[in-house]
Amino acid sequence: MLGLARLNLKISLLVLAPILGVVLGWSYLPHFVFVLLVACAAIAALSVTLGRDAWRQSHQAAAPLPTAKAAPQPRVRRAEARAAKRGEVLLSPDATVTLSDERATAGVDDVFTSLDNELVGLLPVKRKVEEIASLLLVDRVRQRFGLSAPRPNLHMCFTGDPGTGKTTVALRMAELLHRLGYLEKGHLVHVMRDDLVGEFIGQTAPKTKRVLDRAMGGVLFIDEAYYLYRASDSKDYGQECIDILLQVMENDRDKLVVIMAGYKDRMDGFFESNPGMSSRIAHHIDFAPYQLDELVAIGRGMLDQSSYYLSDDAEAAFREYLTIRMDQPRFANARSVRNELERARLRHAHRLASEPQLDRSRDDLMRLESADILTSPIFSLLGIDE
Ligand SMILES: Nc1ncnc2c1ncn2[C@@H]1O[C@H](COP(=O)(O)OP(=O)(O)OP(=O)(O)O)[C@@H](O)[C@H]1O
Ligand SMILES: [Mg+2]
Repeated sequence: MLGLARLNLKISLLVLAPILGVVLGWSYLPHFVFVLLVACAAIAALSVTLGRDAWRQSHQAAAPLPTAKAAPQPRVRRAEARAAKRGEVLLSPDATVTLSDERATAGVDDVFTSLDNELVGLLPVKRKVEEIASLLLVDRVRQRFGLSAPRPNLHMCFTGDPGTGKTTVALRMAELLHRLGYLEKGHLVHVMRDDLVGEFIGQTAPKTKRVLDRAMGGVLFIDEAYYLYRASDSKDYGQECIDILLQVMENDRDKLVVIMAGYKDRMDGFFESNPGMSSRIAHHIDFAPYQLDELVAIGRGMLDQSSYYLSDDAEAAFREYLTIRMDQPRFANARSVRNELERARLRHAHRLASEPQLDRSRDDLMRLESADILTSPIFSLLGIDE
């Protein structure tokens, strides 16, 4: 009862006070001042009301959902979280899956098809890539069942002579790791010593960190990695770079894959001097030099991609060319094949252009003749042709 009386008194005061104010103001103040005061009061009241509504709305949006407040969230396990990140629903324990479906969903088969079509031979390399893909595929299915396992270490070392396909396979590997959900972006950052190591004190750490930042989420491909370490030079900053790399390869292995590449014997020497680095590389893949038949097949594939082909005589000449070239210094396997075929295209174009009055068919424009190969200086023993 007492509460009700108090409430009535408050309401009466709230109603009476403004009326009394209006009457007194109208009686004692000049009229234009009175109108001004009423307008200011109205504007102030309006802005307070609108401001309060906006504040209330923003707080409602930011506030956690009522369910989250009611029950503390259980800890989501890492495997479940990774599957959820890919937008997959967790499977029940008695469900079954086929790995072929899983491969198709991940789009892995496309990568293998382009690896097969693009690269002649390299069977041991392709088998190793397939093994790594299988491991990640099984890991991915396990995550869908909520089975957790530590992420495999996928830092690698590609050894082999120049032009044996190391960079090309690394690009495909980055794409594969991305499709299988191991890497977030799947790009490749190609660097050499100069991109990582500074010449003066204080330059190396920021340089290396900038490169690492760029490579995060993808593959860091360090070409001729042995140049990072110079045993003979005690003032060399390469060791500082190696130390940073070692740390990141250990701590950020789920965000970055490091692939080191170079000649096999020099890489072996590098690992002997840096056992820490050796123990962080899980996969060593050796790229063997190509045999003559493989080089010819690589050449055929390259020409086919650009709508050219070798006549029978031209292919025989090209074999002869490669036989000589393989024994020369600075032979770079498939790269030497590409370079020679580009020169052959130049000679072909020059041959056609030197007789401009003749009719030329579509086939004439596609076919390389033996003359386009045999005019290489290599046959006149003028020296190295690259
Ligand atoms: N097996 C192959 N089949 C077809 N083309 C190939 C093959 N291997 C390499 N190539 C081609 O040869 C060229 C050189 O290959 P790549 O750059 O991958 O070699 P690399 O081993 O990285 O060489 P380097 O050690 O000199 O850096 C590329 O154009 C690539 O497409
Ligand atoms: Mg390369």
